[in-house]
Amino acid sequence: MRQHGDTYISCRGLYKIYKVADLEVVALRGLELAVESGEIIAIVGASGSGKSTLLNILAGYDAPSAGRVTVGEYDLLQMSGKEVVEYRRRGVGFVWQETSRNLFPYLTALENVELPMLLAGAPDYERSEWAPRLLEMVGLSHRSGHRPAQLSGGEQQRVAIAVALANRPPLLLADEPTGELDNETGAEALELLNELNQELGTTIVIVTHDPAIATSVGRAIAIRDGKTSTETVREVSFNKQIGGDAQGTREYLIVDSGGSVQIPRDMLDQLDVSRRVRASVQGGKVTLESGD
Ligand SMILES: Nc1ncnc2c1ncn2[C@@H]1O[C@H](COP(=O)(O)OP(=O)(O)OP(=O)(O)O)[C@@H](O)[C@H]1O
Ligand SMILES: [Mg+2]
Repeated sequence: MRQHGDTYISCRGLYKIYKVADLEVVALRGLELAVESGEIIAIVGASGSGKSTLLNILAGYDAPSAGRVTVGEYDLLQMSGKEVVEYRRRGVGFVWQETSRNLFPYLTALENVELPMLLAGAPDYERSEWAPRLLEMVGLSHRSGHRPAQLSGGEQQRVAIAVALANRPPLLLADEPTGELDNETGAEALELLNELNQELGTTIVIVTHDPAIATSVGRAIAIRDGKTSTETVREVSFNKQIGGDAQGTREYLIVDSGGSVQIPRDMLDQLDVSRRVRASVQGGKVTLESGD
């Protein structure tokens, strides 16, 4: 039995190279990531940094070029075609960035949630109980007979989340779930994901270009040029414990399995570093100085 806190997703030295005509695009270059079972995290990064590439690999939609990636007991590099189908059906739920891609336009909200269960061969009684329950959890019981076109953008994303959870996957992946929503509706969608994470224990990975989301989840990992570079962890500060409202975050640099650390650009600029640095350890601290 999987325990809360076990490593659930593990990526080590992950590479994805796309070949277009004679050109190679390195979308992921040695990416490292570990997510615990039951965690909710955000992957944050600029456009083109490799966020969707990573999510598509984790979803089993795309194969990596090199490296290691495991999700629970699934080794995503070693799976047969049959296992991939099984993994996509039961191992993972996916919410696409494009709202229209998540739902069938001619099915009602309830039918959309029932469909993945039908395809997975869930028994009728299970379907007739769980599908309405999911719609209730996302706060849309009163819209179950509506088709997507009769729902707002935020409501459609809520149904999409219910659809993704229909077969009770242990992992939910959401690509920019708030991208097409206004700020308030986006915040509600995030709150919902946090609630579902608590209620169902589903491990959740949210991809976004919005660094503000970092404060809405436990941990936000920044991806730059196809590598995870920094991670921001929310900390309940001393102030909060004594009644203040300050909730701090702390940023860490990620050390990969080869010992490499990506030093943020602004720090390099401050140091006027271009090619190399001198490093020394003193009193438990590492100091870097320009070596040029
Ligand atoms: N199918 C593909 N073929 C070729 N290159 C691709 C393909 N998909 C993505 N890329 C390239 O890989 C890089 C990473 O793309 P990706 O879609 O992962 O970025 P992203 O972080 O999701 O960006 P955005 O925030 O704009 O969605 C980009 O340079 C992109 O042009
Ligand atoms: Mg993307």
